[in-house]
Amino acid sequence: MYDKSAFKIKNNPVILGIESSCDETACAVLRGRKILSDEIISSAAVQAQYGGVVPEIASRAHTDAVDEVCRRAVKNAGISYGDIDAVAVTYGAGLLGALLVGLSFAKALAFTLNVPLIAVNHIRGHISAAYLDDDTLKPPFITLLASGGHTAILHTKSFTEFEVLASTSDDAAGEAFDKCARVLGLAYPGGPNVQRLAAQGDANINFPSALVKNSAHTQFSYSGLKTSVINYCHNLEQKGEVVPRADVAASFQQAALNPLADKTVEFARRYGVTTVTAGGGVIANDYLRGRLLQKCSQSGIKLILPEKRYCTDNAAMIASEGYNQYMAGNFADMDLNAVAAIPLKQSVEQ
Ligand code: KG4
Ligand code: ZN
Repeated sequence: MYDKSAFKIKNNPVILGIESSCDETACAVLRGRKILSDEIISSAAVQAQYGGVVPEIASRAHTDAVDEVCRRAVKNAGISYGDIDAVAVTYGAGLLGALLVGLSFAKALAFTLNVPLIAVNHIRGHISAAYLDDDTLKPPFITLLASGGHTAILHTKSFTEFEVLASTSDDAAGEAFDKCARVLGLAYPGGPNVQRLAAQGDANINFPSALVKNSAHTQFSYSGLKTSVINYCHNLEQKGEVVPRADVAASFQQAALNPLADKTVEFARRYGVTTVTAGGGVIANDYLRGRLLQKCSQSGIKLILPEKRYCTDNAAMIASEGYNQYMAGNFADMDLNAVAAIPLKQSVEQ
C-alpha cells in the first residue's frame, strides 16, 4: 500500500525523472545531483511537418516511447529498478494528454517499487538544471528563465523559495523566436534556426527592444517586437524588394535577448548576489550565452550556464528538481493530477 508518510529520506538518493510535457519523452537517473543516465525520444521531427506541436500526435508519441525511454535510462545508469529511491515526474504545466502519459507511467512505477512519487513543476525543473552543472551550487542567486512558455528573472532564495523580479506581459521569448522563424520561412522549432540565420547577418535594423520603457518595474514584452518584424518583412515584400532575412534574424535576436541578459546582471548587482544562473530552451542560444558571460564577467559575477541539452526539455532537470523536493520531504499522493496551465507566480512562489 503506498503511504507517502512512511518513506524515509536517504542521503544521495537515486532519483528517476520523467518528462513528457511537450514533444520530448525523456527519462533520466540521478544519484544525488550526479547524472547516471539521460535519455530522450523526441517527436519534434514529426511535429515540424505541421509547423508546431500537435497535442494528439505528442500524446501518441509519448505513449509509444515512454516505456522504451525508461528502460534505456535504467539500463544505461547501470542500476536495476530496485535501486530507485524516488520517481520524479512533470505534472504541469504542459499539454494535458502528453503530461498524463508520463504521470501515469511514473505513478505505476512508484507504486510498484513502493518509493515516493514526486510532483515536479516544469518551470522549477528548468531552474534546477543549473545544479546539474555545479553540484556545489547553493542559493541565493539570480536566475534568468527563458523558455517557450515563460520569460522571467527570479531571485532564487533557497532550494524551494523564489521571488519573481521581472516577467513578460505577453509572449515568452521562445514563443517570439518561433513566430519570427515562421515570418522568415524557417522550420519549427524556430529558436535554433533563427540563431543559425542570425549568425550570417548584421544587427543593423532598429527593432523595438523587448524591455518595456517607462515602466515602474522591469518588464518585458515581445508583441511590439514581433509586430515590427512582421511589418518590416511585409512592407519589403509588398514593394517587391528582397528581405534581408539574416539581418532581420540578427536584429531580432539582439532586441529580444539583450535586455534579458542586461537586466539579469543588473538585478544581481542590485541584490548583492554574486551568482547568476539560467534555464529554459532560449538559454541554449549562443548569442545570449555570450552576452550573459560578457556582462557577468564585467561585473565580477559567477555565471552558471547549464549545458545546452539541459536548457531545452530533458528529464535530468526534472530529477534535479525532484532531488530538492525529496530532500524537503515533499512527496505526492497517488491521486496527483496533471495541470495544463500554472501561472508563473504560483509555479515558483507557492
Ligand atoms: O524550455 P523549452 O525546451 O520548452 C518549454 O518549456 O517551452 O523551450 C523551447 C523554446 C522554443 O520556443 C525554442 O524555439 C526555444 O526554446 N529555443 C531557442 C533556442 N533553442 C530553443 N531559442 C533561441 N535560440 C536557441 N538556440
Ligand atoms: Zn521546457
